[in-house]
Amino acid sequence: MSLSYWDGAYRTGRKIWGGQPSEIARVMGMFFEKEKIPTSGKRMLEIGCGYGRDALYFADRWKVILVGIDPSGQAIEMARAGLTAKNRRRVEFRTERFQDVTEGSFDLVYAANLYQVLSPEERNQFCRAAPAWLAPGGLLLLGGLSSRDPEHAGNGNEISTSTVSGEEKFHLHLSTRKELEADFRSLGIRALFEHEFLEPRAEGEPHHHIAWILIGARKT
Ligand SMILES: C[S@@+](CC[C@H](N)C(=O)[O-])C[C@H]1O[C@@H](n2cnc3c(N)ncnc32)[C@H](O)[C@@H]1O
Repeated sequence: MSLSYWDGAYRTGRKIWGGQPSEIARVMGMFFEKEKIPTSGKRMLEIGCGYGRDALYFADRWKVILVGIDPSGQAIEMARAGLTAKNRRRVEFRTERFQDVTEGSFDLVYAANLYQVLSPEERNQFCRAAPAWLAPGGLLLLGGLSSRDPEHAGNGNEISTSTVSGEEKFHLHLSTRKELEADFRSLGIRALFEHEFLEPRAEGEPHHHIAWILIGARKT
């Protein structure tokens, strides 16, 4: 996946998917409420935070201590601009790739709309690193496009026979349940379900998506 693609996409300063939190963040919020999982004061890492729409939502709603990382310096500048007097002491945004994260012991690691843009090698790196970022019992919260995604399935050139991948403007990988179960077998999967929604766009029509929501716990 080309990092320059994303830096270029953010360069206009426009919030590509609007200023509200993503649907994936909202669904995670509902899951945590239903399961009564405490969040206040927990350490959270968001990987591929973009311009911070979800990080700022979690910081305010969940009262977490949050590190948000993204390799796009432009996106990180936009994310920092969203900090407020209430959350700036608990939130740090850094221009960084997940491959360079050296800290661990996070209670929560969140990545939305990232897994699908990673190359096969990067997805392997992500899966291998995930348990090391988490404290024992810590949770990985992953949201990524499904192979049944109405917007992208069947578009682009398929580059693998075992999975649905495409080369549209950028590499895109659409996941199946079986694949995610295998990719994250080192974690105890607590939830894995599809969610269908319309994603707003700053420009043009909303996109119709089906995404996987995966919640996995680090085994102690
Ligand atoms: C589709 S965007 C999603 C942004 C954000 N999660 C959201 O939903 O608003 C994917 C993001 O992943 C970031 N990204 C790509 N490769 C990455 C890597 N190796 N480490 C961390 N983030 C990465 C990109 O810069 C981009 O901001």
